[in-house]
Amino acid sequence: MIDHLDRICDAAAGRGEQIQRKILEHLGHGHQQKTLPDFTIQRAAELLGVSISRIRALEGSERFPPPRARQAGAIQQRIYNYNEVNRLRELLGERPTRPKTAPPLNITFSNLKGGVAKTTHAIHCAQYLAVRGHRVLLVDADPQATATGAFGILPDIDLGEDDDLSGVILGTPEAIDGIVRKTCWDNLDLIPASLSLQRVDLLIAREPAATTQQLGSPLLRLRRGLGRLVDRYDVIVVDTPPALGMLSLNAIAAANLLIIPIEPHMYSLGSSVQYFRILRDVIRRHRDSIGVQRINMLLTRVDEQSPETQGVIKLLASAYGGMCLTNHMPLSRELQRVATDHLGLYEIEQPRGARETFTRAVQAMDRVNADIFSQIRSLWDLHPDAPAVTDRPSMLDDML
Ligand SMILES: Nc1ncnc2c1ncn2[C@@H]1O[C@H](COP(=O)(O)OP(=O)(O)O)[C@@H](O)[C@H]1O
Ligand SMILES: [Mg+2]
Repeated sequence: MIDHLDRICDAAAGRGEQIQRKILEHLGHGHQQKTLPDFTIQRAAELLGVSISRIRALEGSERFPPPRARQAGAIQQRIYNYNEVNRLRELLGERPTRPKTAPPLNITFSNLKGGVAKTTHAIHCAQYLAVRGHRVLLVDADPQATATGAFGILPDIDLGEDDDLSGVILGTPEAIDGIVRKTCWDNLDLIPASLSLQRVDLLIAREPAATTQQLGSPLLRLRRGLGRLVDRYDVIVVDTPPALGMLSLNAIAAANLLIIPIEPHMYSLGSSVQYFRILRDVIRRHRDSIGVQRINMLLTRVDEQSPETQGVIKLLASAYGGMCLTNHMPLSRELQRVATDHLGLYEIEQPRGARETFTRAVQAMDRVNADIFSQIRSLWDLHPDAPAVTDRPSMLDDML
């Protein structure tokens, strides 16, 4: 019987791999560099918080580059993308900054469970901050590499074994210098993940005591590595795998703000209890290594039509009320649709479905990210030289 099973598994793996190769080859041929969406001057003005005529006047002056244009019927229409808006912001002297005395703020999205939208919110949070001019690093610490794929990188084709966090966790902090990648966003960099990250837990468990003594606590290696990048970013966002193994624990130890995305189902309550117990034990054991300043729960994939869901939300609120972010993310067909194309809501020019569905999804995502940003701000405010940050308008309008 065992021999039979062995043969079935072997044959299935072989066939699966063949098909996977074919798909990757196909993708490889059509593999294209990602680009940012274009939008009109109205949207640029809105993002910059200035009037359209102000942008026109600035672009007439020597200091500002002439805008790009596209033909829209009989007229030439000025067009912009997020990078160009950020360049204008720079020239206006309005680039937001973190307090000088504060290191980059580290947000880790974490949950024992998969499918709760950790990756979705890590990506959208990083992009939301980049749209507003912050310097952001997104760290993909999940061997499944979904966030990496969302930036147009195919781990099986584009990455070697040394291109992910493995070297930082198993080797030295300096390994981080070689793995940060530029993306199509000028102010959003990425540390990609690949399946080879899966060996981290096994290799750490087998690490000789002498190596551990030399390299220091295995839990702190990501934090040390990120410490080398302090001058380059305002916010670092880390996406984690659905388990509290060495990768997630490194991400938690590196975090200032821990966000736990949770779906409002009855079984989520049980798994969150389990999560908090494990986290408590880790914190007790590594009291001096964990720098988490705040923990927030984020309700995700909320089915607003379901009375059962409303009941569970009440239960979760009575258990974790103060920790829950004010806004939640509803289930959204549009988010599902764009994710199929490896895109985020902030990256598309044309909605895949009804414009109204898209608008609702973007507004909901904006509200969630504004909540997260107000947490960031309140942590920044703890620093004596915290800069005044002005509110920016919602990420919508004439794109719609
Ligand atoms: N608000 C939402 N509405 C609909 N689908 C969503 C929503 N948030 C996430 N998803 C989808 O749910 C799936 C799981 O999300 P993902 O971010 O990959 O979860 P995790 O990283 O926790 O495993 C993905 O297919 C994603 O596109
Ligand atoms: Mg994920």
